[in-house]
Amino acid sequence: MELGNIKRIGIVGAGAMGAQLAQLFAQVGGYQVTISDINMELVNNGIKGIDGRLQKYFVDKGKMTADQKSSIMGAIKGTTIIAELAKNSDFIIEAAIENMDIKKKIFQELDANAPADTILASNTSALPITLMTMATKRPDKVIGTHFMNPVAVMKLVEVITPPMVSDDTTKVTVELMKKVGKEPVMCKDISLGFLANRAYGAMLNEAVQMVWERVASPQDIDKAMKLGYNFPMGPCELFDFTGGWGISASSEADRIKEVGDARGRCHPLVKLMTRAGYCGGLGKKGIYAFWDDVLSKW
Ligand SMILES: NC(=O)c1ccc[n+]([C@@H]2O[C@H](COP(=O)([O-])OP(=O)(O)OC[C@H]3O[C@@H](n4cnc5c(N)ncnc54)[C@H](O)[C@@H]3O)[C@@H](O)[C@H]2O)c1
Repeated sequence: MELGNIKRIGIVGAGAMGAQLAQLFAQVGGYQVTISDINMELVNNGIKGIDGRLQKYFVDKGKMTADQKSSIMGAIKGTTIIAELAKNSDFIIEAAIENMDIKKKIFQELDANAPADTILASNTSALPITLMTMATKRPDKVIGTHFMNPVAVMKLVEVITPPMVSDDTTKVTVELMKKVGKEPVMCKDISLGFLANRAYGAMLNEAVQMVWERVASPQDIDKAMKLGYNFPMGPCELFDFTGGWGISASSEADRIKEVGDARGRCHPLVKLMTRAGYCGGLGKKGIYAFWDDVLSKW
């Protein structure tokens, strides 16, 4: 596969990341994009979000005309049928919920329906790509592309290479990432959390442990990290923004399978707050709210 042969992008999952990825490939890459989710309401919510962001950050600021926005929106099609998405895509990124069983099923279905040379990528935050590879009959064409949130702003994409991926697949994936304005960093598929999340996770866990011990509020821990280490956002604030608490809770079993109990285990505070509905994500309650509503008084 050559970069020039990639004309159509498929995105599985129209949640926070899937919708932003669809926007990136249509807006920056100029690609035709098909996006899927488990029902049409979720697909339409994702597409509506793209429309809103293009309006707010581009049209309203005079950076894009209404016609340009319409043409980007016209390049994005929604479906609930993964087979249909697969048939019409040259490069597919899976951005469904962080759960290995669901991801494996998606990869099986993509593999069964996509053209033989279509590349299948996953946006997983931490799960082994090799297990997704093994759910397909195209092990040389499965790779990881881990984008960061918010996609439009963050330059990093980690390109994760399982042992069976071909040099051709890796090369064209790196070229594609550059074409949509990202800076790829390579990572072998033997690291839970790849590069950035593995290092960040160790620090985040200490921040959460301090909140659990009532050493300080998450707001003050973040203030210390911002003023003391020049972080643009504190770790607690960042996970409130990205919905990382919910992702961490939903992938705990897969992480434990991968690295055993100690490093895979969700912190008890993250378990408690996500069970109580404080999962984070845009406009949703996370650790700041859990501290104010519950923990500071409990
Ligand atoms: N949120 C982040 O900051 C972030 C950053 C980098 C990577 N990721 C990763 O990206 C992926 C998606 O995360 P998100 O934050 O967008 O989650 P999300 O919960 O916002 O969206 C996931 C979407 O996947 C859909 N889905 C579930 N099963 C599906 C299926 N069988 N077919 C199609 N869609 C299905 C859900 O209905 C949901 O809309 C995860 O693997 C996550 O670890 C997330």
